[in-house]
Amino acid sequence: MSSRACDVLVVGAGVVGLTAAWRALDAGAGVVVLDPAPGDGATHAAAGMLAPVMEAGFGEEGQARLGTAALALWPSYASAVEHAAGLPPGAVGLDTTSGTLALAYDADDVVALRRLLALHRQWGLGSAELPPAAAREREPGTGPRVAGAAWVPGDHSVDPRALHAALAGVVAARGTVVRRAAAALTWADGAVTGAVDAAGTTYAAGTVVLAAGHASGTLYAGAPTRPVPGTTLRLLADADRAPRVVVRGVVQGRPVYAVPRPVRPDGTREVVVGATSHERADDHLTRAGDVFALLRDVRVLLPGLDEAVLLEATTRSRPGSPDNAPLLGRAAPGLHLATGHHRNGILLAPLTAAALDHALGAAPSAWADEEAAGAAVAAAARYADPLRFGPACGTPAGRTPVSSTIEGGTA
Ligand code: GLY
Repeated sequence: MSSRACDVLVVGAGVVGLTAAWRALDAGAGVVVLDPAPGDGATHAAAGMLAPVMEAGFGEEGQARLGTAALALWPSYASAVEHAAGLPPGAVGLDTTSGTLALAYDADDVVALRRLLALHRQWGLGSAELPPAAAREREPGTGPRVAGAAWVPGDHSVDPRALHAALAGVVAARGTVVRRAAAALTWADGAVTGAVDAAGTTYAAGTVVLAAGHASGTLYAGAPTRPVPGTTLRLLADADRAPRVVVRGVVQGRPVYAVPRPVRPDGTREVVVGATSHERADDHLTRAGDVFALLRDVRVLLPGLDEAVLLEATTRSRPGSPDNAPLLGRAAPGLHLATGHHRNGILLAPLTAAALDHALGAAPSAWADEEAAGAAVAAAARYADPLRFGPACGTPAGRTPVSSTIEGGTA
């Protein structure tokens, strides 16, 4: 059996794991990343909505606060990733100008939308009801039967696959990515000391960052994650038949969204349509009924998409936690969690980075404005405490218990 040593071992190479690896590299650490299929988890299905307002539902004020703090970091995070990867500005497809149109299909959907807008007012989040005619000015492709609408100026989008490719380039150039699954964490005297992979190779590490998405809980019982599978579709439409802005709708109580990518040189535009959400075991199998439901609902909001080409149907699992908020921070000696992001892994990537910078003692000013980074760290501490489910969760079966009073981190 072979073994290798590093300062930081990151388990998981989705956007969250690679962001963690990049921050550890910038802090001067020697980094190894373990993942059998980098970017083939939730990242692969993600539409890339940066939507702290419309993603936060009743009872989810914490998620709204985390998302708002993360969104403030997005411009500097995107340009720092592009710079580190040697890519031109705009390469990761960040759009923070076009905003989001919320559409309600029937009278009951309008009632539900108004309740949501009232919640936004209560939480100080920006959204405003629009008459359907004004919605058509924002998005001329809006269907004729839409009954109500709202404008959400602060919800935006990014291209998760472009972002992942940029991060992968950065991490491959300066660290090591091993295409194997982690089989188990290794422990000594109540501290995590590394991991062993599926082939039996041991990785000794000063710090392990567990960013294995919904599978994190199989490696550490204190990360109670579960799979929340969802399907997204990728359509290719002529630009004049595709939406110009992100559209989020509710059709007879069912949510659906359409996220347009920039117009291509040939005059077409990719549109990501999503997403179903199920509580079931993880698999990558797309159900016919999910494709049917997404297309049925999106076409009444945006009828122009009927002519689009169906490029891809992708099913992957979001990592849910018991309260669907993430687990960020030091969970045990030698172990840092970056998981449980549920529907917001892409949105929360910069906040995860800021929290890790804080734990590693890295300078946030390297890529973010310090005030926004400080607000993100504070939001993470308040709403994403990795120990909030109690110390009983913080111990793997048969291991030495970890005190629930551990704070901060020296990863
Ligand atoms: N963030 C959108 C989704 O998870 O479907």
